[in-house]
Formats: sequence, C-alpha cells, structure tokens
Amino acid sequence: MRVPQAASGQADMTAFEDKKVFVKTYGCQMNVYDSNRMMDSLATRGYSPTEDMNEADLVILNTCHIREKAAEKVYSELGRIRQIKEKREKDGKGEMKIGIAGCVAQAEGQEIIRRAPVVDLVVGPQAYHMLPDLLERTNGGARVVETDFPIEDKFKALPAAKKEVTRKRGVSAFLTVQEGCDKFCTFCVVPYTRGAEVSRPVAQIVSEAKGLADAGVREVTLLGQNVNAYHGEGSDGRDWGLGELLFELTKIEGLDRLRYTTSHPRDMDDTLMAAHRDLDCLMPYLHLPVQSGSDRILKAMNRQHSYEDYVRLIDRIRSARPDIALSGDFIVGFPGESDEDFEQTMQIVREVTYASAYSFKYSPRPGTPAADDENQIEDAIKSERLYRLQDLLNAQQKAFNASKLGEEMTVLLERKGREPGQLVGKSPWLQAVQVDAPDNLIGEIVTVRIDTVGSNSLFGTMIDPAR
Ligand code: SAH
Ligand code: SF4
Ligand code: F3S
Repeated sequence: MRVPQAASGQADMTAFEDKKVFVKTYGCQMNVYDSNRMMDSLATRGYSPTEDMNEADLVILNTCHIREKAAEKVYSELGRIRQIKEKREKDGKGEMKIGIAGCVAQAEGQEIIRRAPVVDLVVGPQAYHMLPDLLERTNGGARVVETDFPIEDKFKALPAAKKEVTRKRGVSAFLTVQEGCDKFCTFCVVPYTRGAEVSRPVAQIVSEAKGLADAGVREVTLLGQNVNAYHGEGSDGRDWGLGELLFELTKIEGLDRLRYTTSHPRDMDDTLMAAHRDLDCLMPYLHLPVQSGSDRILKAMNRQHSYEDYVRLIDRIRSARPDIALSGDFIVGFPGESDEDFEQTMQIVREVTYASAYSFKYSPRPGTPAADDENQIEDAIKSERLYRLQDLLNAQQKAFNASKLGEEMTVLLERKGREPGQLVGKSPWLQAVQVDAPDNLIGEIVTVRIDTVGSNSLFGTMIDPAR
C-alpha cells in the first residue's frame, strides 16, 4: 500500500490504496471517451488501469443499449465475471467489485440489481463525476444505483488526465463537446439514456483540447450524439455553433487534424459548411447518417428530413469540400418497411456513394414508439435486405479505397503496424495506412504514396518531405 507522507488517519490511507480497475467498453465513441474519464476520476483514489480482469479490484462494464444484442451482451458477460470474481475471492486475492455504467445502466437501473446479484454499483452516464464517492458507498456490502440526471456540470467536476496518461492513450483523441439528444427518432433509445441535449462551454473545450495538444495529441475528434447541434457558450457570451467552435480550435498549436461525429442532417449550418470549405485541418470525412431512403419510413422514424433534403445537402457539402468522403448509418426492416421502401434505401446509397457505412437490422427497443408498432418485419426479410445493402456498401467502400491507388496523401502515424519496421496511421479519409517507418515517427504526419490497396487497409511508401 502506498501511503502519502502527510497521511495519518485511516480514511486517508484507504483513499490512497493502490488498486486496479478493469474497464470494458461497448457501444459508441462517447463510451470510449467516458471510460477514460472514469479512469481519470478513479485515479484520484489510487486506482490504476489493468488489462487483466483476474487482478482487478474493480470491474466496470461501460455498456450500450442501442440494439437488443448490445444490451444482452452485458448479462452474459456478467456470468463470466462472476466466475472470475469467485475464484479470485476463493484464492484469497481480495474482493472484486463490479460496476455497470453506460446506457444499459441508465435504461435498466434497478432491474440490473435485481437480475444480477453480483453487481455492486449501477451508474448512469450523467453521474460519472460521482463515481469515486458512489463506490465508497458500496463498502460494507451496500448496493448502489445512481441514474438521476444531476443538474451540476459533470465535466467541470471530472478531473483531467495526467499528461503521461494522455500521451499513452495515443496521438488521436476523442473530446465530448455535446451530449444527449432532443430529436426522438422513433427507433432510438439515446434521448432516454443520455437525456436532453447539453453543450459544454467553448472555454472548457478549448482548455481540454490544449491539454491534449500539450501532451502530444495531433488529432482530435469532437464527439456528441448530435455533435452538429452543438450550441455552447462562447467567449462573447453568445451560443456558438460547431462551425465557430472548429474555427476556434484551429488556433491551438499542435492540433493539426480535427474531426467530428455524429451529425444529424438537419443541423448542417452555413458556418459548418464554411469550416469544411476553409479549414485544411478539418478532415474531409463526414459521418452523416440517413437511416433510410424512403420518405414514408423517414417520416415514421421522425427523422424530419426527406430523401431530397439529404441529397441536396450532400451536394452542398461536396461543393464546399470536393474531396470529402461520406459515411452513413442505415436501418433495414423498420416497422412497415415494404420492398419499395427498401429499394429507395438502395437508391439513395447508389446516388450518394459512401466511402464507408454501418448498417443494422431494426431492433425494437423498450420504451421507444416504433417498438409498439404492429407492423414489425420478419427477421428473414431483415436479413435478406441487410445482406443486399451491405453488398452494395462494401462494393462502394472497395471502390473508394481503390480510387486512392497511386495517390499521395498525408498520414498521421499512430502506432506500430503488423510487421516489424511498420507503422500504421490514418489517411485524411479515416483509412488505415500501413507504411515502413521507424518508431520515432509515431505522432508525425508524413506524406505517403499508396502502392497497394488491401481489403481493410492501404499500403504505402513514405515520401521524403524534403524532396
Ligand atoms: N446520433 C446519431 C446516431 C446514434 S445511434 C444519429 O442521429 O444518426 C447509432 C446508429 O445506431 C444510428 O444511426 C442507427 O443507425 C442505429 N440504431 C439506433 N437505434 C437502432 C435500433 N433500434 N435498431 C437498429 N439500429 C439502430
Ligand atoms: Fe437517436 Fe435520432 Fe437522436 Fe440520433 S438523432 S441519437 S438516431 S434519436
Ligand atoms: Fe450505445 Fe449509448 Fe452510445 S446506447 S451507441 S453507448 S450513446
């Protein structure tokens, strides 16, 4: 046990005990960001991260509730963890506490405690700043559930990571700028699990981004469930949009690449378009989910845009930034989706052409309006539609990657590659690029010529910048 010099009382000693936390993250990038913030906050109580669950004093599952399969994973994982916990405790290695965080925690709260007696703590995404205190409350065997939406600013209360910790996490980092959603698409749990839209003030974001840059981060991806609905308080007291925030962040030295995700088609305003047009450091890649190509289904989904609106928007984005690559999300088999509706989805994909995409079978989620719709689609039909859609999207992705053959592009080198002497990095279009390069170039942005295009990554040769 490491005891600080000045500590004498029992309370101080427990506060600084050396303990290990194992965190497993499911779901979206925001959960990845949150897991890091939870670890930063636990670090203040002496917890350091471990990759080995067997040696963990605390296991946290940071969960996702977006589709049924994602939520069920939690309960099956808990069965496995219980065995590890029992073995560890039988071997006299000490107690193992188990916490559930994330969107399943928020959605199911008490139900988790009832269904999984092994769980000590359930904590919703809005209460992460309270995590160390909540954990302390479980001492002595109490089981704690915290799923309220507190009014205080959790981001203000969460401690920042130490510089060495940030550096270790890599040269590309996430930064949550907006959380929650007020859109209420009829299939989606996010407005219920993450609450109403909240934007962090500009100064808070700039300060966090400076900290990242200072620790050697070169690329920051701004996160939000509806990141382009961002409207945080700016330095002039006015609410700033995402475009203004991006212009501000370009002033930070060392931050050479900016990205943002996920956006909603309704919130692409003129300043954001101007940012795509004018900012070289804003990478030419945009994830803009459309979900369906059928106006009838889009309406039933409450997406509040049509096929035409989306296609026109894409035209505007492409004229602002001609080399932009698009990515999207699609749902097949939404209640009532006919063959014709699905053909419209195929049609919008052909018309827009995507560089990459995610597509899912509709999964009814408890408490969402679409789940109660009587016209649910058979699973076999969903599977067939998904297969056809993914076939088309995969072909588009392949064609996009192939179009880069022979091109020169900048690559941010992030980590060691598959083979010795190789590094892997990211192209401006978020493709993985493998290059022969020495380790000391990790964190550098280099120019690479693409020689080969594989199924998952590109292979290239570094071009001498002094050439
Ligand atoms: N905020 C983002 C997406 C959040 S969820 C947006 O508005 O686009 C990520 C993706 O999961 C969604 O884009 C959608 O394609 C998918 N998804 C959400 N709920 C789903 C459900 N009930 N069944 C299947 N896919 C779903
Ligand atoms: Fe879910 Fe729709 Fe909000 Fe995206 S915009 S998080 S899909 S409710
Ligand atoms: Fe999943 Fe919650 Fe993200 S439901 S996708 S972890 S916001």
